[in-house]
Parts: sequence; C-alpha cells; structure tokens
Amino acid sequence: MSHPASTEQAERLRIHRLTAAAGDDFAADVRRGLTSPRKFLLPKYFYDALGSRLFDAICLVPEYYPTRAEASIFESYAAEIVEKVRGGARRVTLFELGSGSAAKTRRLIAALLATQPRLTYVPVDISTAALEESANALLGDYEGLSVAAYAADYDTALPRLSENFEEGALALVLFLGSNVGNFDRGEARDFLRRVRAALRPGDRLLLGADLKKDAPTLEAAYDDPVGVTAAFNLNLLARINRELGADFRLRDFRHVALYNEAEGRVEMHLESTRAQTVRLAALDLEVRFGAGERVHTENSYKYSLDELSALAAETGFKREHIWLDPAGRFSSNLFVAS
Ligand code: AVI
Repeated sequence: MSHPASTEQAERLRIHRLTAAAGDDFAADVRRGLTSPRKFLLPKYFYDALGSRLFDAICLVPEYYPTRAEASIFESYAAEIVEKVRGGARRVTLFELGSGSAAKTRRLIAALLATQPRLTYVPVDISTAALEESANALLGDYEGLSVAAYAADYDTALPRLSENFEEGALALVLFLGSNVGNFDRGEARDFLRRVRAALRPGDRLLLGADLKKDAPTLEAAYDDPVGVTAAFNLNLLARINRELGADFRLRDFRHVALYNEAEGRVEMHLESTRAQTVRLAALDLEVRFGAGERVHTENSYKYSLDELSALAAETGFKREHIWLDPAGRFSSNLFVAS
C-alpha cells in the first residue's frame, strides 16, 4: 500500500530513461589507450561504484577547494543569482546537466521557490539511481517542486530539453562543479554550442569554472596528502583488473598530478615505478611499461576571466555576470543566450 505523501510525491516526478546512442566500450578504449605510443586512459572510466565514492570523498578533502568554493558562492549569492537570472521574467524553469546528488543545487531551488510558487527542475544524469535518490529527497523537502528527470548522456538529453519549456518561463541551465574543465578547450566550445542550440534567445546558463592560479595550490588540490585523489586515479587500474582480468600491481604505479602552465591544465598520470609487463586476459594483450613511463589519465582545464568571456562569445552567449568565492579561486558565470 502506498503512503499518501509518497503518492503525492510520485505525481510530481517523471523519469525519462533514454538509452545512449552508442554505449561505452571499456575494453576497446583500454586497448587503444595502452597500445598508443603515449599511453592514456579516458577519465570517464574513473566513475565505477568505487570511483564515484572516491570522487565524493575528494570533494571533502580540504585541498580540493572547487566544490566548497562553488557552494560558498551559492550560500552567499543565491538570491542575487536568482534575481539576475530572472531579469523581468515571471518564472524560471531549472535544468541541470550532470546533477549527481544535486547538493549545491538546493540553495538555488530554495531561492527560486522564494520568488515563484512552483518550480520545474529538469536534472540530467547518466545514473538513474542518483536521479531517483536526489529527486525523492528534493520532492520531500520542497512542496512547490516538480521533477522531470532524464537518465541519459548529455547529447541524448539536450535535444529533449525543449519538451520542458514553459509558457512565459525562462530556462536556466546549470553546468556546475568545474565539469567544463574535463573537456579540452575545443570540446568545451563544441559542447557549449550544443547547449546553446538547445535553448532560446534570452535563456540562461550558469557555468562553474575553476580559475587559473599558482601551481602549488592546483597541484595540492589534485594530490592531497591523505591520498584520496591517488586512490581515485589508481582505481582505474584496479577497475581494469576487476573487469578485464588484468594483473596490474597497484603498488608498482604512483599517482602524479602536475600543473601544465602552457596548456592551463592540471594533468593526472599513473607512473610505472619500475620496468614491468602487465597482462590483460580479456584483451589477450601484454603491455610493457618502462621505469618512469606514464599513463595520462585526466586533464582539468583552468580558465582566466577573459577566457570565460571569450568562451561565451564564441558559443552564442554573452557573459552577463560573474560571482567569485571569497578567495577568488572559483567562478560562477551567468551566460545569456544571444
Ligand atoms: C569531475 N571533475 C570536475 C573533477 C576535476 O576537478 O577535474 C575530477 C577530479 N579529478 C581529480 N580530482 C577531481
């Protein structure tokens, strides 16, 4: 028997389960990366069950400032952000790409509901479980909220966002947490153009972007002394062991994080500490590593404020406002679709 509150809540929740056009091919991507002259592994494979937990733990590490910096911006400025987003519009419909647990989004939802009686929230995430959990928690806490969630990758979901456009309401799309930094600069432009194509003139994008700064601060953020980020990086090899029957000895690799100032990006690598050969049974492959040889696992691009204005202009937006955290490390950028 269903509980009355949960029935009422269920009426405010829709989840669209959209299968991705092409699935990931972990085995083929690992083969390609480890047989390349400069070895690499794709960062999207960090996020298995353990990797996702390790990323949540990274967000609690004192040296990894982006999560807390963005949360502090929302804590201080949520009402102002909502006022600037709204302009003259009566209502806003809220979209979020990569919503996860939607922890930081709560401040914006509360600020929007303080200025309009009802709000539709449209989160997009690859994980149906994360969407269900976060949507149910939000619906329990905010009476005026309805959720229309998309369990999908971004490219599958973007053309569907217009299904939720409401008469007389502006769209505000959130792309938070420095996720844009995991695209290279060309990919970031292409992605924001696809976001723009899904919107109407005047709609808004709130983009989180980590800022360029001194190398020691950046390197500490990606190489914390507790070793949480090292575990997150090394888990990629553990995942290959688990899923592809490989025999990586994790103790023979070390986590390396360095700021490549010329490229404006933090790079993560896994460095082989000795000459060794690893066997990947499922791929029928042996891979040789030299002592000191590195596997490139992630780039995290950092932006200057000028680069963010240029990024807006190049992708069909105008940057209307920037909010910074008190230490000036992280930026929340309000882009308006031209
Ligand atoms: C998910 N992404 C924004 C994180 C970042 O900062 O690039 C991933 C991460 N890698 C190491 N620490 C955090």
